[in-house]
Amino acid sequence: MTLKTKSGAPVGASRRAFLSGAAGLAGLAVTAPRAFAASDRVEALLAQMTIEEKAGQLSCFADVIRPPIGDMNPLVNIRNAQTLTAEVKAGRVGALFNGVGAQAARDTQKAAIEGSRLKIPLLFAADVIHGFRTVFPIPLAEAASFDPHLAERTARATAIEATASGLHWTFAPMVDVARDQRWGRVAEGSGEDVFLGELLAAARVRGFQGKDLKADDSMLATPKHFAAYGAVTAGLEYNSVELSDATLREVHLPPFQAAFAAGALTTMSAFNDVNGIPATANKMLLTDILRGEWGFKGVVVSDYTADQELVAHGFAADDRDAARLAILAGVDMSMQSGLYNRYLPELVASGAVPMAVVDASVRRVLALKEAIGLFDNPYRSLDPRDEAERTATPAIRALGREAGARSIVLLKNDGPLLPLPKVGKRLALIGPFADDRDNVLGAWGGFFADRRLNVDLATGLRAQMADPGSLIVERGCEVETTIAGGFERAVAAAQAADIVLLAIGESQDMTGEAKSRTDIRIPPVQQRLAEAIAATGKPVVVLLRHGRAIQLEGVVRDAPAILATWFLGSEMGNAVADVLFGAVNPSGRLPVSFPIDSGQEPFFYNGRTTGRPAPTDPNGQEYKARWRSIRNDALYPFGFGLSYTRFDVTDMKLSTARLAWNETLHVTAKVRNSGGVHGDHVVQLYIRDRVASRTRPIRELKGFQRVSLAPGAEREVRFELKRQHLMFVGDNDYWISEPGVFDVWIANSSVDGLAASFELLPVG
Ligand code: NOJ
Repeated sequence: MTLKTKSGAPVGASRRAFLSGAAGLAGLAVTAPRAFAASDRVEALLAQMTIEEKAGQLSCFADVIRPPIGDMNPLVNIRNAQTLTAEVKAGRVGALFNGVGAQAARDTQKAAIEGSRLKIPLLFAADVIHGFRTVFPIPLAEAASFDPHLAERTARATAIEATASGLHWTFAPMVDVARDQRWGRVAEGSGEDVFLGELLAAARVRGFQGKDLKADDSMLATPKHFAAYGAVTAGLEYNSVELSDATLREVHLPPFQAAFAAGALTTMSAFNDVNGIPATANKMLLTDILRGEWGFKGVVVSDYTADQELVAHGFAADDRDAARLAILAGVDMSMQSGLYNRYLPELVASGAVPMAVVDASVRRVLALKEAIGLFDNPYRSLDPRDEAERTATPAIRALGREAGARSIVLLKNDGPLLPLPKVGKRLALIGPFADDRDNVLGAWGGFFADRRLNVDLATGLRAQMADPGSLIVERGCEVETTIAGGFERAVAAAQAADIVLLAIGESQDMTGEAKSRTDIRIPPVQQRLAEAIAATGKPVVVLLRHGRAIQLEGVVRDAPAILATWFLGSEMGNAVADVLFGAVNPSGRLPVSFPIDSGQEPFFYNGRTTGRPAPTDPNGQEYKARWRSIRNDALYPFGFGLSYTRFDVTDMKLSTARLAWNETLHVTAKVRNSGGVHGDHVVQLYIRDRVASRTRPIRELKGFQRVSLAPGAEREVRFELKRQHLMFVGDNDYWISEPGVFDVWIANSSVDGLAASFELLPVG
């Protein structure tokens, strides 16, 4: 007996709404999609528009009038500020992106309002991903906080700064589930898990958009890239995607649904194809699922020239054909290629594209502008006075520091070596990131950031040391190259110190868009530096800099203490010092599995079982799903992270062993802080469906709770599980429930925990 519903909606409610409703799980409310419909004003405008003006509203261009430090993308098309202003006045531009500065935006808006025939205001968009002037941890790092409320707060602060600089719309959050660490854009998302990804997607949308879309500091969010961009084959950027419908719906689509349920009104069509149909011409994704099944009423913008790239995909014959395919599939707005301006008038005239299709897209774009109040006040968010006042305020910087410290994951702490005393020890800070200020922000950080705010490690550490003179700093080498005499000086510094802090890992430009790596190790020169330092016999704390999971090996893997410190943003040095010296007890948990070896990628904790699962005994039988050389385990699994205190989780109880079809199962346990300092523990709930009509993941995260406990304190944690948490995508793309036995764990990570089981009884 199964119960079938499409798109995960348990009849009359979205799956997301259900999950949050069921959850004391993470305690987040998800709002219904905001009402969003074209008004009489929009209809009246539409009735007056020429096809050229309609195409203009559907076109979005890089803002060369007020460019930031440069463009992240290959610059194509309109490259001249004067030409662009003329195009704005001609009504051939609907939105500009990646410009910065309130005064220049105000002037450009004036050109649209006073210079164009229909006076339609422009939307100003940008890639504001994890902070603006003040930069917060990369989204992957922030995911390690397992704290959606924190993500909401940093997104809010980001919106406050960005809107003060003349922006209305961010191309964020990236909600692509990323299961292959070779892919550079792992850094921009929430990691490998669907449930965590859903909660963070919704939280970030709420944060960017605030409570009132018309408010001056509210910023439209764009969950991207629709869809399955995180599933590029072999982690190679822009590569094709081969994916079952079930995995598409179970893994890659839910974070989008969560973001839309939280109120996101736009999305971005991805560069990749999905099973041979490019996402930017994919009617099944952009129209059938997005609008048909989910009822999405908002705007789809293409990724940068993604419509034009349909030609390179070998899917469109030429640019005209590409424009036709994109708009017919459901791409409302074309980013940067200019194809809609160039071809829509003729495509409509020839009957290749019905005017009604163009009108529907224009309606959506105008309704979006109306939703944020632009028709009533075209100069909203364009007041230069706000720019200084709302930027890098003490509160925003303090939030950056808090977010940074909460994103750090303590992977190892033998001894325990950490936290360090603030007095009495000589410290050597060694490695390319020791005093480096150019690699603290992460891949997107450098775009709009005020780099003067960047706090490097040496500065952050010294600020907390009683005797800053007892910190010796030596880079030893650069990220991928040697420094003359660097090793010798670094070894001497280590010898003169009691403890070595080794700041090694990836540079900013080894992660992010177009930064796929074939292996995910620390660059060889840094590994050699680590070996030279380890040979001194001094205890080493590894401070890992990274935008993905890293393969740790040799003396780095074997160091007594390891902290995953990612790219933490402007406040990096202070945040790391807070954790190193114990002002903050680390409570981050890994949002991506650290494999033993790069060759295991794609590696993720929630893979399906096989017919020949590997034995737990490493010397066990052959002819099992295992590698010749290593166990197919994680070195550090998803969900893992240590603390300076110890937590004991005991007394797991289920309210029933036989769960009726529409009942709620309560799973409880006690958590005790058995160590000597205050700390936060992230208690995780996983399930496994033992027997199903489709093979199921070994484990799936279905809830987590952050518990804050003083030494000796104990608390009960309580999770709720309902049938809908147990659903999966069966035949014909339907979400189904199947009765049967489920395992459930209350765990500290994806590979451990207290276990129990229950049976979901058939309906009736
Ligand atoms: C390409 C990236 O894929 C996308 O995420 C970004 O928003 C656009 N460029 C615009 O910069």
